[in-house]
Amino acid sequence: MTGIAFLLNGTPVRVTGESPTRTLLDWLRETRGLCGTKEGCNEGDCGACTVMVTDEGGSRALNACILFLPQLDGKAIRTVEGVTSPTGKMHPVQEAMVAHHGAQCGFCTPGFVVSMAVAHLNGQRDHDDALAGNLCRCTGYAPIIRAAEAAADAPVPDWMQNDRSCISAQILASPPAAGATATDHAVGSGGADVPPAFCPTSSDELAEWYLAHPDATLIAGATDVGLWVTKNLRDLSPVAFLNRVTDLQHIERQGGLLHVGAGVTIAALRAAVAANLPSFAELLRRYASEQVRNAATIGGNIANGSPIGDGPPALIALGATLHLRRGDEMRSMPLESFFLDYRKQDRRPGEFVAGISFPEQAPELRCYKISKRFDQDISTVCGCFNITVHDGRITTARIAYGGMAGIPKRAATVEAALIGKSWDQTTITAALPAFAQDFTPLSDMRASAAYRLETATNLLVRYFHDLSGAPVSVLEITP
Ligand SMILES: Cc1cc2nc3c(=O)[nH]c(=O)nc-3n(C[C@H](O)[C@H](O)[C@H](O)COP(=O)(O)OP(=O)(O)OC[C@H]3O[C@@H](n4cnc5c(N)ncnc54)[C@H](O)[C@@H]3O)c2cc1C
Ligand code: FES
Ligand code: FES
Repeated sequence: MTGIAFLLNGTPVRVTGESPTRTLLDWLRETRGLCGTKEGCNEGDCGACTVMVTDEGGSRALNACILFLPQLDGKAIRTVEGVTSPTGKMHPVQEAMVAHHGAQCGFCTPGFVVSMAVAHLNGQRDHDDALAGNLCRCTGYAPIIRAAEAAADAPVPDWMQNDRSCISAQILASPPAAGATATDHAVGSGGADVPPAFCPTSSDELAEWYLAHPDATLIAGATDVGLWVTKNLRDLSPVAFLNRVTDLQHIERQGGLLHVGAGVTIAALRAAVAANLPSFAELLRRYASEQVRNAATIGGNIANGSPIGDGPPALIALGATLHLRRGDEMRSMPLESFFLDYRKQDRRPGEFVAGISFPEQAPELRCYKISKRFDQDISTVCGCFNITVHDGRITTARIAYGGMAGIPKRAATVEAALIGKSWDQTTITAALPAFAQDFTPLSDMRASAAYRLETATNLLVRYFHDLSGAPVSVLEITP
């Protein structure tokens, strides 16, 4: 089956002849004339391009500027034009935006309206979180949040409820046949000069194809890869999209461990760890924005090897095991062993990240993200601590940092300085100089090397006070 099929504002659409790395934003504006979806940053930061995407899992907000067309196959898309009823009646959030003076220049407004409409549909009341990925430079957030609050109790309009029932009837009527070959899963081909994308539906298919195409680019959530296209104008072919590999999207609990597939989104991971690993969940709440968390996967976050990714330091502090697959061969390793050097990982050609396992409980785990902006910002330093104490003595210590080296890295000398000592202020103070032996951070646009080292050192002190029950988060301290 060639072509990409989806519902667009309630109408079935089949797209052929487009490059697999054509973004939804460009396609909507240039091909369909749906210019309500705006281009602000074109890199996932501002939310001006927010659309609603619905599938069997529900409806969520995504950034159209870093969403490629094959990621939408079999789904329903609603742009700001489709948030208004087919007869032109405004959605309650639109009426509230007018009533509460929620727009001045209006450039950000369509993105805000779509994010608000998705939150309204899902009954989400944490408006600050839902709108953290939408930036406004004129109006200010207070009138916008007031509008979201005012609309919250209004019934969900009929036209917003139909997408989920319609996709199965109209789009998923002809899914790829069971046992289909790799070619059957090619989408996006429609002309001699348009390369197809491989869209496997199982990790077995992915493993076989990737072994034969080790130079291919794997695309999961595209929150990194999207920028390679929109900012670096790179040709990525051949490409494989992982979003239909459902067996990589499971979360299982077994023997005290959580087994998380590489294709699990940050939003789903956050929900899975909320009850038992609340500090990890809070770190993930500050991971980019709702739109990015709904797309980005934990596999992509690990595989890209970024020294400032937020997932790895927390997972290393938890003692996570990484699972890799190449053809039929599986191997596992402690997550920290995967990161060899700056952007160099222990991953062989044709090998992909299959998943990660970690303890489902760790009462002493604390994760601290230090960034210039509280919401929707990359970490300057991310420090994660998991220290256990028995009879007043430190028995185990796992401390991992992002932003302190070319890779996410453990503070091995600090850990050694703590283990076996009594858990008190004297021990903590005595261990602090060891940070300079573990890390030689860089200065960059986010922070100087001196700031990073001092911050990393202070985070251990913060951890000590945190475990003692003192308030240590800016959210807990009121003037
Ligand atoms: C606006 C914005 C804000 C962001 N904020 C944060 C933040 O706060 N914290 C943070 O940590 N990150 C942040 N990121 C970075 C990004 O979201 C993450 O790195 C993300 O987890 C990547 O996952 P993905 O599924 O989108 O990967 P993709 O972009 O699809 O892929 C990333 C890389 O991983 C490879 N890959 C993907 N899946 C696999 C697999 N299973 N096996 C092998 N290779 C694979 C791809 O080939 C590519 O090299 C942000 C990005 C944006 C655009
Ligand atoms: S244009 Fe800014 S997030 Fe898409
Ligand atoms: S109204 Fe101008 S950016 Fe929000």
